[in-house]
Amino acid sequence: MENKNISEITPEIYELTERIYQTGTIDPELYTKYEVKRGLRDISGKGVLAGLTRISDIQSFIEKDGERIPCEGKLFYRGINIKEIVRGFMQEKRHGFEEVVYLLLMGNLPDKKQLSDFTKLLAHYRTLPTSFVRDIIMKAPSPDMMNTLARSVLTLYSYDDKANDISIPNVLRQSLQLIALFPLLSVYGYQAYRHYHDGQSLFIHVPDPELSTAENILHLLRPDSKYTELEAKILDVSLVLHAEHGGGNNSTFTTHVVSSSGTDTYSTVAASLGSLKGPKHGGANIKVVQMVEDMKKNLSDWTSESEVRDYLTKLLNKQAFDKAGLIYGMGHAVYSLSDPRADIFKSFVENLSEAKGLSDEFKLYTLVERLAPEVIAKERRIYKGVSANVDFYSGFVYNMLKLPTELFTPIFAIARIAGWSAHRIEELSNAGKIIRPAYKNIQDERPYIALDERN
Ligand SMILES: CC(C)(COP(=O)(O)OP(=O)(O)OC[C@H]1O[C@@H](n2cnc3c(N)ncnc32)[C@H](O)[C@@H]1OP(=O)(O)O)[C@@H](O)C(=O)NCCC(=O)NCCS
Repeated sequence: MENKNISEITPEIYELTERIYQTGTIDPELYTKYEVKRGLRDISGKGVLAGLTRISDIQSFIEKDGERIPCEGKLFYRGINIKEIVRGFMQEKRHGFEEVVYLLLMGNLPDKKQLSDFTKLLAHYRTLPTSFVRDIIMKAPSPDMMNTLARSVLTLYSYDDKANDISIPNVLRQSLQLIALFPLLSVYGYQAYRHYHDGQSLFIHVPDPELSTAENILHLLRPDSKYTELEAKILDVSLVLHAEHGGGNNSTFTTHVVSSSGTDTYSTVAASLGSLKGPKHGGANIKVVQMVEDMKKNLSDWTSESEVRDYLTKLLNKQAFDKAGLIYGMGHAVYSLSDPRADIFKSFVENLSEAKGLSDEFKLYTLVERLAPEVIAKERRIYKGVSANVDFYSGFVYNMLKLPTELFTPIFAIARIAGWSAHRIEELSNAGKIIRPAYKNIQDERPYIALDERN
């Protein structure tokens, strides 16, 4: 093939696509006829039971007299309510992410010594060979840090003498190393991109073993390594809130599916990263910020309910912003009345927005949060409630922390790799059967026709 623009979609490709459209669509009624659980969920949002877990629980409905009634969302890590976890470490005026990683992986809260030893272990693993930064991260930096992250993870395979060993101690060792390294891989990838693509100065700060994961992210990212206590505290809470969300969320289920084939940790984590990158999953918070920026450009009055409502309706009708028909940051596959993570985030957002002089933006966010469920219910078929999800406020928070949008989803990954690791170990320790659900064939049988006889 000629070496021209490989991204070009040629007329030939469009013509071939037309053929796919002719043969590829499935009548939506058939899904009902064959009782297919689309998205592996029923219409009330209840997922198909695919496994058992002790790692976390999400409550969004209560069962009463055989009926499922939507309730305020709750999230539990190893049986402990996330709201209590956040309240607990904040009252003790310390960061919580390392404790949560320990809880998710080991199953119980660590005592003081266990937490201190564990934090030291992560700090010990938080170092990359110089050659890796020079030869891998600095070479061909990608504009998408999730792509950089996935490539780095796959490359780490060749640095590991026991890459294919899926015994639990080895997988735990690999998991802890990846958990420790994700901040470096993400931030260095971003610095390389900014340098080579945007011509900015290149900063490669060395991680500080005395700092928490959240503090290290800010230390590595900022040219002067400076940050406030409030900034680090909010980033730490964000990591805690994103660390785990049940076995059924798209990237964690990917972890289960891929782990069940018996493949290595690096392949599994790269697959989960691919899932998390999607705008319906981890990529949504960037979209929220871009959507609100677009809204601010197009609204003459941010406080006008009717203007905001019209804009939201246009979003759903694919007439505004990215024309995808989505109001980003709203709705959730499982939650209905509320997402507890969004509630916790919101409690910090108001103070932070005041401190940063962004109260008007905060009001716009709350207006969208109030009006969007109403507009979605009018334009779509809703069986369970729609409310703001964790990404609605996380994007706004990251913006206020001046984190580059390129790092929004990697920060989600820096947190969620804790949950993936716990689920991978649970899958390898217990299930032992390759995941292989069914797809019903609806294509009639037909004969093979010789080439000369086709028209
Ligand atoms: C997360 C999400 C994919 C869940 O979708 P879901 O599982 O289909 O949720 P529901 O069953 O409540 O949705 C019912 C209908 O409302 C639509 N809907 C839900 N939230 C919506 C939103 N924010 N914007 C537009 N339509 C939405 C769904 O697409 C679905 O319509 P369909 O039956 O025509 O496909 C969806 O809410 C969404 O795309 N949200 C925006 C992206 C986002 O913020 N993702 C982050 C999730 S943490």
